Amino acid sequence: MADERGGTFFVVRGPVEPGDKRGRELGFPTANIALRDQRGELGDGVWAGWAERADGTRVAAAVSVGRRPTYYGADGYRLVEAYLLDFEGDLYDERLTVWLGSHLRDQEAYGSAQELIDALARDVARTREWVAAHPAGDLPGLGTPPPDGEVRRIG
Ligand SMILES: Cc1cc2nc3c(=O)[nH]c(=O)nc-3n(C[C@H](O)[C@H](O)[C@H](O)COP(=O)(O)O)c2cc1C
Repeated sequence: MADERGGTFFVVRGPVEPGDKRGRELGFPTANIALRDQRGELGDGVWAGWAERADGTRVAAAVSVGRRPTYYGADGYRLVEAYLLDFEGDLYDERLTVWLGSHLRDQEAYGSAQELIDALARDVARTREWVAAHPAGDLPGLGTPPPDGEVRRIG
């Protein structure tokens, strides 16, 4: 996993955009950030990481990078979707900075919403383990933040 190779992170920053609101129905509402570079070094996948809010507070996050293949096949546009753990509130339009610390798995096209929900629950459990071992205070500094929607590799 990326973190075991010496603290490599991908960082993405940008304003939270409205999603399809399906996340709420699944029980995992996400903050969606558009990726400016649709290809790039960061591949599709699911990650454990941290999200930093505009006020500087950091919230553990299970993060999806991809095209939501369960719903859009291979035709969707790539985006970053962060599910913030133990968080309730409205993040629309807020600028979030998302650190991707540990690659958990690839994107999958699930056969049903329930299968996706079960996978999300496992992702959240693994994210809790990762954040416990990688506290927010240990995140590497960003220096000048990356432009909105651009992926920066740190470490
Ligand atoms: C941790 C995490 C893992 C995800 N993994 C997948 C996946 O493997 N396949 C998939 O189609 N969508 C995946 N998603 C995206 C969900 O399909 C998406 O969040 C949901 O459809 C809600 O979309 P919305 O934000 O546009 O409402 C994942 C989302 C999160 C937060």
